[in-house]
Amino acid sequence: MEMAAQTWNGEWWKWGGGGTAWDSFVFDPNLNLVYLGVGNGSPWNQKLRSPGGGDNLFLASIVAVDADTGEYVWHYQTAPGDTWDYTATQHMILADLEWQGETRKVIMQAPKNGFFYVLDRATGELLSAEPYTAMTWATHVDMATGKPVETETARVFDGENVTLPSNAGGHNWPPMSYNPDTGLVYIPTLQVGIQFKEPTHERDTKPAQGYWNQGFDRTNYVLPQLPNIDEIVDSGVSGQLLAWDPVAGEARWKGNLGRVSGGGVLSTAGNLVFQGHHDQFRALNATNGDLLWSDEVHTVAMAPPITYSLDGQQYVAIAVGFGGGLAAEAGAVSHGWDTDANMSRVLVYKLGGTAEAPANEVVRQPLPEPPPVTGTQEQIALGQQIFQRHCSVCHGDGLRTGGLTPDLKRTSAGTHEVWQKIVREGLLQYGGMPGFGQFVTEQEAEAVRQYVLDVANTAYQLQESAKLETTQ
Ligand code: HEC
Repeated sequence: MEMAAQTWNGEWWKWGGGGTAWDSFVFDPNLNLVYLGVGNGSPWNQKLRSPGGGDNLFLASIVAVDADTGEYVWHYQTAPGDTWDYTATQHMILADLEWQGETRKVIMQAPKNGFFYVLDRATGELLSAEPYTAMTWATHVDMATGKPVETETARVFDGENVTLPSNAGGHNWPPMSYNPDTGLVYIPTLQVGIQFKEPTHERDTKPAQGYWNQGFDRTNYVLPQLPNIDEIVDSGVSGQLLAWDPVAGEARWKGNLGRVSGGGVLSTAGNLVFQGHHDQFRALNATNGDLLWSDEVHTVAMAPPITYSLDGQQYVAIAVGFGGGLAAEAGAVSHGWDTDANMSRVLVYKLGGTAEAPANEVVRQPLPEPPPVTGTQEQIALGQQIFQRHCSVCHGDGLRTGGLTPDLKRTSAGTHEVWQKIVREGLLQYGGMPGFGQFVTEQEAEAVRQYVLDVANTAYQLQESAKLETTQ
């Protein structure tokens, strides 16, 4: 997408993840069109990426191109001047819908920005754009211009104003499912906000390597290290399976999922909707959302299920196991059970099947006593900034890992002795821990160590005083 890159500010586009790539596409063999779902820009913050403003075509857009020549045919931009990471890479579904007395060939998408779109897929004409989740950034889409009408606070990033949907979107990557029999689209949605903060530190205003260039203040994201953090997160974060009527532009039913991790959806001609989520795999009635069946899978089920038949027998299969950005960066929101050990496997079901998925026997142990803090308050403060910028993306915001990487609060005294070798020289690089020697100085790595020790000791003391309270 050269065109988009050329309108941007200086060097940024070379550095970030995401950027100018499209991430999803779908092909219509009759119209001979390929539809590209285009992602966000890098850095996210438009004020830095594109100080002159503008729509920044074709970011956050669906672009239709001729399948033979690749030539542009039409586009629809879901988030002009994107600054929230509102990608339009989400799953796109082609369908023939009865629309005001005629059959229209449509393309449907629930991108991150919270609006459900129905477009005529031959021409790109906008047919419907209704909010499928809570939003604070726009009031509605102006059907004459096709553009969202932003609220006054849409671009207020003071670290306090809550933006909904968050950068994770009202719908992330897990695929939705359209059922032509019910006429409904089943969408795994999220309700979660974010408090963006304009960058205050030079590190966040210039492109940097070894770092997630968002153009926002990454140190702002710290979750408080409280014993009841899981409940706090739970109260502000929820996932819903939404049955959306694309013609009426409204929800027919909603199923609450608790935490955010609702996985991809499958709907069947037998009037069922299958979905995995936080530790269960479920079958619902496609018409009204009634829960018909569920099975404990003892881990998060994120992937969409599939169904197939073999020798006349129908099966439903699902790959289970947690992972992805949420588990890495936001452990507290991604799962909340008593183990950090993943259980990745494929589960296959049939009517009358009797096998049971064995439970995860690895139980989370109490925190061991960490080595003492030996640094100063200044070191700890610096260490926190460096950690949030370079490490939290894998080891968890405020050290709350979801279990994909080691919990640094549990790092042993022996491992602390080789800290510089691990962090700067890449001692564990083959285990997925890159060496940060080019990006983080020896003093900074030591400051991170002191921050880690500080958080570990605080968490350990909380754990021990809770034990005392229960024994008194
Ligand atoms: C790209 C993801 C990623 C990033 C970013 C990252 N780590 Fe790691 N880290 C890992 C993984 C994966 C392991 C486990 C490696 C292994 O066991 O072989 C690990 C292991 C470690 C360990 C060993 C812990 C133990 O108890 O065994 C330390 C210490 C560590 N990382 C510190 C850091 C610091 C400090 C930063 C930031 C400067 C950082 N990491 C950034 C992925 C990452």
